[in-house]
Amino acid sequence: MPKRIVIVGSTGSIGQQALDVVRRFPDRLAVVGLSTGRSVDLLAQQAREFGPTAVGVADAGLYNQLRSALADTDAQVFAGPDADQIASLPEADLVLVASVGLSGLTPAMNAVRAGKTLAIANKESLVAAGELILAEARRSSSRVVPVDSEHSAIFQCLEGEQPASVHRIILTASGGAFRDKPLEELANVTPDEALMHPTWRMGKKITVDCATLMNKGLEVIEAHRLFGVPVDRIETVLHHQSVIHSMVEFTDGSVKAQMGLPDMRLPIQYALFYPHRATWAPSRLDPAALGCLTFAPLDLGRYPCLSLAYCAARKGGTYPAVLSAADEVAVAAFLEGRLRFSGIPAVVEDALEAHTPEVAVNLDAVARADAWARERAASCVRRLEV
Ligand SMILES: NC(=O)c1ccc[n+]([C@@H]2O[C@H](COP(=O)([O-])OP(=O)(O)OC[C@H]3O[C@@H](n4cnc5c(N)ncnc54)[C@H](OP(=O)(O)O)[C@@H]3O)[C@@H](O)[C@H]2O)c1
Repeated sequence: MPKRIVIVGSTGSIGQQALDVVRRFPDRLAVVGLSTGRSVDLLAQQAREFGPTAVGVADAGLYNQLRSALADTDAQVFAGPDADQIASLPEADLVLVASVGLSGLTPAMNAVRAGKTLAIANKESLVAAGELILAEARRSSSRVVPVDSEHSAIFQCLEGEQPASVHRIILTASGGAFRDKPLEELANVTPDEALMHPTWRMGKKITVDCATLMNKGLEVIEAHRLFGVPVDRIETVLHHQSVIHSMVEFTDGSVKAQMGLPDMRLPIQYALFYPHRATWAPSRLDPAALGCLTFAPLDLGRYPCLSLAYCAARKGGTYPAVLSAADEVAVAAFLEGRLRFSGIPAVVEDALEAHTPEVAVNLDAVARADAWARERAASCVRRLEV
């Protein structure tokens, strides 16, 4: 019997690459649910190819368009907040949450509450409410498998190891689009320039987060949540080639690294097939052709967002939710040409400094912090608007 999967955010970069993996394994993977934010044409095309029992669109105003595009199929159509219900479809075994921003939180919670395996690419929900998701997963005995390449690497390095043997985690960072640009030129870089990532092709928000290194900061918090390692034992290192996806150093000084060419289909299919290995390699690494791998310390002066993320992680509570929400608002404003690149850390810092924290005991506390941070960040963007 094939593993029956739901993909939340199937029209995005991760979603489409996941469907590419599914295409290679018609006997072992079956798609039962797909959802999108607004891209109903592409979603309808995907639904025709993969035949899910249900589809969802987050923008409720697009219900009729999606319904009529699939009128001659049996697919059930959900729209608006109801679209998140596809994460708890009774027929699903595994839910891949590949939507962007905090929109991933409700489907991730729905999936674990319903006892599904959660393959999670969406880092923002882990940052804002990872402890709640993992607590719910423990209660329902759901398995949570990371998809982010760094966390997939750590997950693979930790297989067969005792948690107490972990000395530190080392996250590798490509350095993003501006890693070689003189610091004084960074304030005025354009969205188009920020979207030119040197090694990965991804959605817009994460690509800008790579340029500011907020992405690495979110990943530090994500790793802290997923693997229970204290924040101060999660380090970062610049690694231009994006071939070592991350490393774990153990108490005896031994270091394990997971390697592969930068191709997200590798960690995606690892998560879809876990605990087994797939039989198809999306890409194969030739060490001799690579020549050398390079590493260097990250210059925190160049990447204030990374320092802000460490600060939010150490403070805990609702600070990580505020960090992530303020960053979402700032990145959207930058992409719309309303905020300078250097305004992104300024907006996030303003929100963190003004925040009155709460213990992130439940989703309501996270939602309150998220809403407050978005409002605060929006007003800071208006003050800094170009
Ligand atoms: N791309 C990568 O290589 C990569 C690597 C590691 C981690 N991640 C993480 O994976 C997540 C997705 O990244 P991405 O690069 O794939 O982003 P993306 O290309 O922007 O795609 C986001 C997807 O989410 C959909 N979406 C937006 N709001 C939604 C909602 N409320 N309900 C359902 N779907 C919704 C979008 O629909 P529309 O088509 O309508 O916009 C799109 O399908 C992010 O959290 C990112 O940090 C990505």
